[in-house]
Order: sequence, then C-alpha cells, then structure tokens
Amino acid sequence: MAARILYGKDFAAKIKEDARLEAEKILKATGVMPGLAVVIAGHDPASEVYVRNKHKACGELGIFSLAVELPETATKEELLARIDDLNRDDRIHGILVQLPLPKGLAAAESEILNRIDPVKDVDGFHPVNVGRLSVGEASLVPCTPAGCVRMLELAEIPIDGARAVIIGRSNIVGKPMMNLLLQRNATVTVCHSHTKDLAAITREADILVAAVGKPGFVTADMVKPGATVIDVGINRIAPKKLVGDVDFEAVSEVAGAITPVPGGVGLLTIAMLMQNTVTAARLQAGAKK
Ligand code: GUN
Repeated sequence: MAARILYGKDFAAKIKEDARLEAEKILKATGVMPGLAVVIAGHDPASEVYVRNKHKACGELGIFSLAVELPETATKEELLARIDDLNRDDRIHGILVQLPLPKGLAAAESEILNRIDPVKDVDGFHPVNVGRLSVGEASLVPCTPAGCVRMLELAEIPIDGARAVIIGRSNIVGKPMMNLLLQRNATVTVCHSHTKDLAAITREADILVAAVGKPGFVTADMVKPGATVIDVGINRIAPKKLVGDVDFEAVSEVAGAITPVPGGVGLLTIAMLMQNTVTAARLQAGAKK
C-alpha cells in the first residue's frame, strides 16, 4: 500500500502560524518585535536561496530581519566583529551564520559559531545550547531535527516506546535528533559510516531518519513495512533536480508514512527557525523586565 506522504508545507504552516501569533503577543506586551539577523559570507547559490527564503518568512510573520552580507574574502576577524555587533544589537534576538562558510573561514567554523551569544543562537549550535539539550533543559534546539519532531507530533505518529533509527551522526541533525527522540521516550539507535549490517538495524525502525547526504541511500529492503521514514537529505543531482537520501518511489510502497524531497523537511527547518527567533525574543524580553 502506498505510504501517507508527509508534506512539509502542511506542518510548516501550523508552526509558522504559532510563531506569528506569539510574535504578535510579544509585540503587544513589550513593544518588542522579534528580530533575526542572517549572516552570509560569499555567494554559494544554494545558501543564497535559503537566506532569501528566511527573510521572506520573517516578513510574513511580523519578524524584523536583517541581512548581513560579507564577501567571500572576509577574514575571521571581520566576521567575529559583525557577530559582536549583533550580540549587542537590541533589535536582534536571533543570529544565524549561514553554513557552509567559504573555504578561507571553514577552519574557524567552531570559533565563529561559538561567538554567538547563546541566548541569540537560533541554530542551537553553541555548546551551551548543545549541553542544555542533552540534559533536557533546551530552549533553542537545532531547527531541522526540532521541525521533524514537531511534524511527528502534529501528524500524531507515536514516538513514546517507538524504535527510532537515525542514519548520520552530525551535530546539526543526527545528534540533536537522538536527544529529542530520547527525551520523548523512543529507543534510539544512531548509525553511521562504520556501522556494520546497517540494513538489519534500519529494518527494526518504526521511525527511520536519513541524514546521510547520499542520493537513494535508503532502499526499500532497509525499511520495515509501515515505518515512518523522514528524509533529511537534500542532494542536487542535476542543475534543477533535488533528491533526498531515500529512494522515494520504492520506499513509499513499503513505508507507512514518508516525507518527500523537495517539499518535506526543508520547509520545517525554516518554520522552526521562525519559532526559535520568537522564543529567543520572549526569553530576552523576560530577562530585561
Ligand atoms: N546550512 C544548511 N543548513 C543549515 C542550518 O540549519 N543552519 C545554518 N546556519 N546553516 C545551514
């Protein structure tokens, strides 16, 4: 039987509407409009599209947005100085440095991300926020995994007691996803490039998350009939053709529910970024009272 298709736009609309209402409430109560700064260095075409979409979403939801554009040749010191300015800027409650950084800055990625004030870290990448997530005290959680978990909740797909398998152990997706699912009482396994007999493990999953970065990596024989399959991959296989990590055609015949690419998880990421910006504004407005 064909799987239920989990379209990102349906869930993103609900997450964004909640963020819009909360932004409105904060503005009425404190006179503060939540504000997001997106810092981009260089001209990576995919990143430029993502950044445009972020500013557009801010405009729709009553969130102030500031674009900080630096040349590909920007130095680490220049970028750190801009982050320091944004840390001090009262209009800005969330700061996001778009990744990947240009070649000349990539080695300094941790130092750059760690310079963001943790209360403004809407990506949830700062070690303080990573630590808070792992002890269950998180307020700003990485947007992609947070969006996926919110989607599961909105779709009423049970997490408590489920067997969840994540393929990929990145700091952006795999590890925070592990923590979020564990907190909701799933039994979680994280697989990676050294995992032996991967298919035997993935076939046990009620919830299978693919965050590998390889087109068609998850095939139908790796999926338990009826499982929920979340495809976090975004792979460009031709100038205008994006695919995920999952062989969608074949897997959708086996899975119970599946996210498409494009049109799936990507939309949830932006929606969650809006929610994180509003949450950051609420926390900062509260702290000033
Ligand atoms: N590039 C791709 N995904 C992300 C993300 O979640 N955050 C940032 N800052 N850059 C990205």
